[in-house]
Amino acid sequence: MTRRFAILLLGATVLTAPVVAPIVADAQQRSPARARAEAIVARMTQAEKIGLVHGLFPPMATGKTANELIPSAGHIDGVPRLGIPLVRETDASLGVANQIEQRKGDTATALPSGLATAASFSPALAYNGGRMIGAEARAKRFNVMLAGGVNLTRDPWGGRNFEYFGEDPLLAGRIAGEHIAGVQSNKIVSTVKHFALNPQETGRAVIDARIGEADLRMSDLLAFQLAIERGRPGSVMCAYNKVGGDWACENRFLLTDVLKRDWGFPGWVMSDWGATHSSAKAANAGLDQDSGQELNQRPDFFDAGLRQALAAGEVSAARLDDMVARYLTGLIETGAFDTPVPSRAQPLPVAAHAAVAQAAAEAGIVLLKNERDVLPVAATAKRIVVIGGRADIGVLSGGGSSQVRSIGGVPFEMPLSPEHPAGSFVRVTYHGSSPLAAIRKLATGARVTFVDGRDPAAAAAAARDADLALVFATQWTTEAADAPDLKLPYGQDALIEAVAAAQPNTAVVLETGGPVLMPWADRVPAIVEAWYPGQRGGEAIANVLFGRVNPSGRLPITFPASADQPPRPSPVGLEKLSAPTLSASSNPPVGAKELVPSWKVDYREGADVGYRWYEKQRQRPLFAFGHGLAYTQFAYRNPVVTGGKALTVTVDVSNTGRRAGADVPQVYVRRDGSDAPMRLAAFARVELKPGETKRVTLTAEPRVIADYDTKLPGWRVAGGRYTVAIARDATDRTLTYPVTLQPATMRP
Ligand code: BGC
Repeated sequence: MTRRFAILLLGATVLTAPVVAPIVADAQQRSPARARAEAIVARMTQAEKIGLVHGLFPPMATGKTANELIPSAGHIDGVPRLGIPLVRETDASLGVANQIEQRKGDTATALPSGLATAASFSPALAYNGGRMIGAEARAKRFNVMLAGGVNLTRDPWGGRNFEYFGEDPLLAGRIAGEHIAGVQSNKIVSTVKHFALNPQETGRAVIDARIGEADLRMSDLLAFQLAIERGRPGSVMCAYNKVGGDWACENRFLLTDVLKRDWGFPGWVMSDWGATHSSAKAANAGLDQDSGQELNQRPDFFDAGLRQALAAGEVSAARLDDMVARYLTGLIETGAFDTPVPSRAQPLPVAAHAAVAQAAAEAGIVLLKNERDVLPVAATAKRIVVIGGRADIGVLSGGGSSQVRSIGGVPFEMPLSPEHPAGSFVRVTYHGSSPLAAIRKLATGARVTFVDGRDPAAAAAAARDADLALVFATQWTTEAADAPDLKLPYGQDALIEAVAAAQPNTAVVLETGGPVLMPWADRVPAIVEAWYPGQRGGEAIANVLFGRVNPSGRLPITFPASADQPPRPSPVGLEKLSAPTLSASSNPPVGAKELVPSWKVDYREGADVGYRWYEKQRQRPLFAFGHGLAYTQFAYRNPVVTGGKALTVTVDVSNTGRRAGADVPQVYVRRDGSDAPMRLAAFARVELKPGETKRVTLTAEPRVIADYDTKLPGWRVAGGRYTVAIARDATDRTLTYPVTLQPATMRP
């Protein structure tokens, strides 16, 4: 994919903005890291400072530095005389990326998709995954990892949903925070990204995202806020799109008012690659560093452009000092400043790291349906047919900047989709972990055959001859393009229908970027959502199918019953593109400049994202947020719900079945008399042996109970009666309790 080289940026007008006083914490509040950073800045020349506020994009920066340029996302030279280290930036959240194999043969361990990790509802597993990929980044001589994608998934067709952590701010924020903390435990920086409101890829470099402030604070921004509080990322990456009319990377409200003032973020804001649109306006709005400068329409925005702005008095010297001090603070606080990366790439503990990826995949696989206990596969099964999904080769992964070239991975070209013009090929990577091979290992008493699924009739015939059919279905999604719809592509629905008609014992295993429609759901007894399961996905799937692992994943995103249930049936503005191709979806085609002013998306659901929207619309999804089955059963007993100043729920969680497993009790809350839907306020993942009971206390996140009040400004918990549900998913109202809460306010 040559997306990077085809990026087209529009409308870059240099706007003169008034000189604004920078946000610098007063002397008493200065952290030791900030004080040290300021002392270094005081010794720097202007040229040295300018050198730190823009990053090179290695594939296009040959000859611009005397230092080694590792092909990757970013490079910033250090200042040796002041001990400032050279910084090398790599993508991303699922492992050390190597998108188009720019580093020949450089493999890394691939985690399952972000959605899979979110589906584990396990902050501990998120931390472990982050720690593992961060260790690989350091071993490969990177000290900034562009991880921590926490955009709320507002749309089920979003091309990058797989990278993110789902539709709920509490879940996404908690998981992202742990993931970031894990990455940074290696004394490298992680970002959190893409700040903010970038759930749609179509037209992402031009689209203007519209939403009210309170709604934004209660949804997407809350996810960022929680992630930043827990993860303390060194850097925040601002997004491509506009928010409320201003580019995210020159949006004073987002970067300065919210992030730096209200949240006290001490690190630096870097732009997404090619997302800078000005010098003075961006710097004064709070952008501290321009990334991938070669991808801008004017590559000198934070170089010659910034020098001119300083000379003209449009940007103050104090602001430049603050930009650099923030960069250094982020490096110092995380340990990256004082812990240089090795001078040579280090070997990786490949097996141990693959085990981390496998554990994450196993915990994130969701058993959506299991009638007649079709799963786990019965020991009596003698003839098993595995169908489709290239299960003989490996497991699918998502495309774009997060693409990891895994050990044993199999990249190959495939047609973009049947609807796209002939010749639109994309490079799709299967991680070399074949479900078929893993199934064969576990099905010692059975004959396991494989049918590729291209011919539904042949697949049905093979299924008829077997005791059990395992159909693998895939949906490839990628950065820079949204899924055009929620259908499984390449006629896979027809394949599943044909197999299900021939074989009553059919289990469907999905490897998808996010939700898909399942017109056949009533006609198959078992459905497993395996997401993009990563490096050891084949083994993880087989372990779940055969009961070696008791499924414990819960949906971090609602699966709609029909395309018209979610707020937007398809990407906003897709119709503006006459021939949607990858690059055209990412950025408008040449000549499309006139589309820009009207390309807006109005997030009419406001803060009621995902399951909250469904509740408000009284829609029954196919599978609800939080849903997931196991091969055992759980019970909730002796609940005590306490209100007053804080809301806590204490409950016995029991495993009443015969297999060890993990349950995820969820606490949802709503203020009585309000028209707000129930919101997830607490959750826990509880591991239980058969027959075991654990008493668990869940403490509600107060900002989930509160509403954001822009007049205060801050969070306000209205005093009064609330309804609390101890639930298995967002629609479960079996156990509800009244509780009274005291009024309270909290700062933004
Ligand atoms: C993506 C970022 C990524 C950056 C660097 C951009 O296109 O949106 O997520 O970190 O490229 O590769």
